[in-house]
Amino acid sequence: MDFFKIVDDRRSMRKYVETPVEDEKLHKILETANRAPSAGNLQAYEIYVVRKLEQRQALVKASWDQGFLAEAPVVLIFCVNPARSAVKYGERGNSLYSIQDATIACAYSQLAAKAQGLDTVWVGAFDEAAVSAAIRLPADLRPVVLLPVGYAGRVPTVRPRRELRDLVHEA
Ligand SMILES: Cc1cc2nc3c(=O)[nH]c(=O)nc-3n(C[C@H](O)[C@H](O)[C@H](O)COP(=O)(O)O)c2cc1C
Repeated sequence: MDFFKIVDDRRSMRKYVETPVEDEKLHKILETANRAPSAGNLQAYEIYVVRKLEQRQALVKASWDQGFLAEAPVVLIFCVNPARSAVKYGERGNSLYSIQDATIACAYSQLAAKAQGLDTVWVGAFDEAAVSAAIRLPADLRPVVLLPVGYAGRVPTVRPRRELRDLVHEA
């Protein structure tokens, strides 16, 4: 599939069917995440794969009832591991690079899912302590994105974007 068509076709999907995500497709998504750039190539993040319904239901509660988190057969949780970046970059690694590392990997994952006919939605609104408890995260990790992955349950809404002339500035 053409790269620009994948980018264009990706939309936030908030309804999923029960069809499981094939292991090879999930593996390809994770391999693609692992190709993402990171500060100093330190990859200061961890990805948790959540498949158990009970845990996905706990994610629904933790995200103020974003019910599609229990519909999608798989939810990836991108967590920052600030200590990995802080070792080399101190406070900037701790509070900025680790978040950038994790979120770039998540963006790559969204496109890898789309390239294989799967849909996702970036979920940032959740109670971090409740998510950590749901998957028993080690205390030094911080969940920053929940990414449900699955087959679309409806045609997504197309959201508008700012005009480039508004967004882009000649310095
Ligand atoms: C940082 C961030 C946080 C977001 N949090 C949520 C969320 O909690 N729930 C949700 O349904 N969508 C969430 N979204 C998805 C956005 O609403 C969506 O990307 C935006 O409206 C553009 O639509 P599109 O993804 O279909 O192009 C989030 C996106 C980002 C980048």
